[in-house]
Amino acid sequence: MALTADYTDKIPNNVALHEDRRLQRALESWQPNFLTWWDSMGPTLPTEDVYLRTAVDVGRDGWARFGHVAMRDYRWGVFLAEPKPDRRIAFGAHRGEPAWQQVPGEYRADLQRLIVIQGDTEPASVEQQRNLGATAPSLYDLRNLFQVNVEEGRHLWAMVYLLHAYFGREGREEAEELLHRNSGSDESPRILGAFNEETPDWLSFFMFTYFTDRDGKYQLGTLKESAFDPLSRTAEFMLKEEAHHMFVGTTGIDRVVLRTAELMREHDTDDVTARGGIPLDVIQKYINFHYSVSLDLFGSETSTNVANYYTSGLKGRWGEERRKDDHTLTDDSFLVDALVEGAIGQREVAALVGLNTDLRREYIRDCHTGLGRWNRLLEEAGIERRLYLPHIAFNRQVGAFAAVETAPDGTVLTADAWEDSKGAWLPTEVDKTYIRSLMRPVHEPGRIASWIAPPRQGINGKPFEYEYVHLV
Ligand SMILES: [Fe+2]
Ligand SMILES: [Fe+2]
Repeated sequence: MALTADYTDKIPNNVALHEDRRLQRALESWQPNFLTWWDSMGPTLPTEDVYLRTAVDVGRDGWARFGHVAMRDYRWGVFLAEPKPDRRIAFGAHRGEPAWQQVPGEYRADLQRLIVIQGDTEPASVEQQRNLGATAPSLYDLRNLFQVNVEEGRHLWAMVYLLHAYFGREGREEAEELLHRNSGSDESPRILGAFNEETPDWLSFFMFTYFTDRDGKYQLGTLKESAFDPLSRTAEFMLKEEAHHMFVGTTGIDRVVLRTAELMREHDTDDVTARGGIPLDVIQKYINFHYSVSLDLFGSETSTNVANYYTSGLKGRWGEERRKDDHTLTDDSFLVDALVEGAIGQREVAALVGLNTDLRREYIRDCHTGLGRWNRLLEEAGIERRLYLPHIAFNRQVGAFAAVETAPDGTVLTADAWEDSKGAWLPTEVDKTYIRSLMRPVHEPGRIASWIAPPRQGINGKPFEYEYVHLV
């Protein structure tokens, strides 16, 4: 398999697409449909060109190149991480056997389903974010939004390649469906609930890239372990791009907190709204919301489906190879979160059925790092107030805690008490209206909106003032 990227092809790739004319033709006939989707469901702000990173290879150094490109001419390609010679399956019933280069018949339906679900989230997020360009707080942020958008488009390509290359006619039909479902559509919505909500403002965008894209990182982490080698290598390369999406979220929230802290100190007040800032209360409510809906994306605490995926080798655990156990888990038990006689507690289950909980806990641990950063910024600014992650049972719609309402500290509440207090913990219409009122475009180079601090550095060594985007 050729590993150097081929850029002379219509579809840039490192999978030697030209050697498989049928597959090449199939993907080339999907390409115009993708572009039609991009034109009708992608970013709505008209632009001349954008300073974007394009994946051109998969090697350690120099996998990407930067330059101004018209977004429609972006080179969306197919890239798989380099194969590991003699890769073996790391877990489950097939542990130690060679990784699969083809789809085993008995796992075909399940693998296809996993790929379709992952693939569905990629264009969904582009759709959710399509109107944000009109209210970007700076050209730098506008560029980052578009970078995330084109890469989510490339992630769709990555999944479509697998469907076309390994799943025959059904795979090609699923690839079409990925363009027909649309975020928020009544007739054919996206598969997962959270991907049908609009991302209405930039605070939500930063929260989404911090909390919801991070769910994507953990899902990809489980697929990276897959016994199906092409899926594993695809996920591995996607994770590389995903790191920038996390960066956009983390530093985006850094800069909001920093600006708020600055205004609080300068004017000696918690209420920074008069100065065009976002109060810490409101930031906390957005954290509460986005964190709790992202926890739901990991599914219920126990799942026999996921146990089967693991045993079959389709999906591993986060950091599977670093774990110190037998990697089959058939004799192990595990404590999952549960309601025990109406109270929040834990119960013991077979380790295999508790894998959703295991992944969610890895995710939660990772989420704490952001809180640490933001609280350090507050501390450095001499502000006593701290931000936090709410309790795992707070505002949950999926799993054991969907049955109860709790305060952010985990205190179980009556339905009435929840109704009375939820406006103190989740964004209200008043909060959302205020945030919307701040969303005015700042499209001049070097300038920035009132509610966010400029970044410490620009992109790829360019200064903040650089003209990252040329508008029409
Ligand atoms: Fe993605
Ligand atoms: Fe992403």
